[in-house]
Amino acid sequence: MNAAVTIGRTTFANPVLVASGTFEFGLKFPSVANRLGGVVTKAITMQARVGNPPPRICEFPGGILNSVGLENPGVEKFCTEIVPRTAKLKSRVVVNVAGFTVEEYGELAARLDSESVDALEVNVSCPNVKEGGALFGQQPQVVEAITALVRKETTKTIIIKLTANFVDPVETAKAAEAAGADGVTLINTLFGLALDENGRPFLGGRSGGVSGPALKPFALFCVDRVAAAVKIPIVGCGGIMNGQDALDFLSAGARMVQVGTASLVNPEAALEVWTGLKEYSARNRLTGWEQLVGRTRRHGGGESKSDVRS
Ligand SMILES: Cc1cc2nc3c(=O)[nH]c(=O)nc-3n(C[C@H](O)[C@H](O)[C@H](O)COP(=O)(O)O)c2cc1C
Repeated sequence: MNAAVTIGRTTFANPVLVASGTFEFGLKFPSVANRLGGVVTKAITMQARVGNPPPRICEFPGGILNSVGLENPGVEKFCTEIVPRTAKLKSRVVVNVAGFTVEEYGELAARLDSESVDALEVNVSCPNVKEGGALFGQQPQVVEAITALVRKETTKTIIIKLTANFVDPVETAKAAEAAGADGVTLINTLFGLALDENGRPFLGGRSGGVSGPALKPFALFCVDRVAAAVKIPIVGCGGIMNGQDALDFLSAGARMVQVGTASLVNPEAALEVWTGLKEYSARNRLTGWEQLVGRTRRHGGGESKSDVRS
């Protein structure tokens, strides 16, 4: 079976990516990166950022909370020092970009347009500093404005990484689609708070983002809902630890998947996810991913019932 998946003008050799912030730039483990569909870089901002004070990670039984705070070298240094190295990877390089104003997203897209990277993943889970700090991705009209601006500034494939924090991603996914996005990634981390034994926030950044297995049922629920509402491809993300998890996301309607927290535990996790998918497809003699993608809804039963079950 041809395992390749195309989103926008980018063809990925297989549907498995590593998620932003969990595999740096793919340069530490090239033997893994080279066998995946691609690497999504950690978030790149206009200016360099030192990130949040430690501790930045807190484990809990269902996963982790992180408050890395978008530590990164800034777009200029990324282009001059890192892109020449990531360009040598055999898989696709997707740059996760994060702005603190709508205009910054446009500037990032314009700066990266001439670089040897394959696609942009637009991270709208950042606080809109000028407008009181709500996340850009919580307002469909802001997602639409950012997507339209990025679309204007680049010819590269653009995938909008949506948040599901206090917002229905169906509305923001529709906004991204209307403004010309090639795809959407669902979901980013969910808000969380961890406390120490004295009741003080454990993380240096106070609150954090929940990731790992605890996220999977909700992420799958989001993918299933959004898949029924938009035509552009969905990249599923949230708690994918093995091939079966990835299969679930494809069944729910994702065309590609991202492996995040699992790589922090085992750098080969994404490869194992890919092996699991490959073995499933061989065992079942699949002729194409379309046989799996969205099959949950094809099984029926979802349309007439409420999506919110108690
Ligand atoms: C340590 C850490 C850093 C992250 N950094 C970013 C980031 O820079 N940009 C982004 O869009 N998502 C970031 N994420 C979110 C992941 O890309 C992913 O959406 C989330 O962790 C859910 O997937 P998972 O459960 O497989 O980890 C980060 C996650 C973790 C755990």
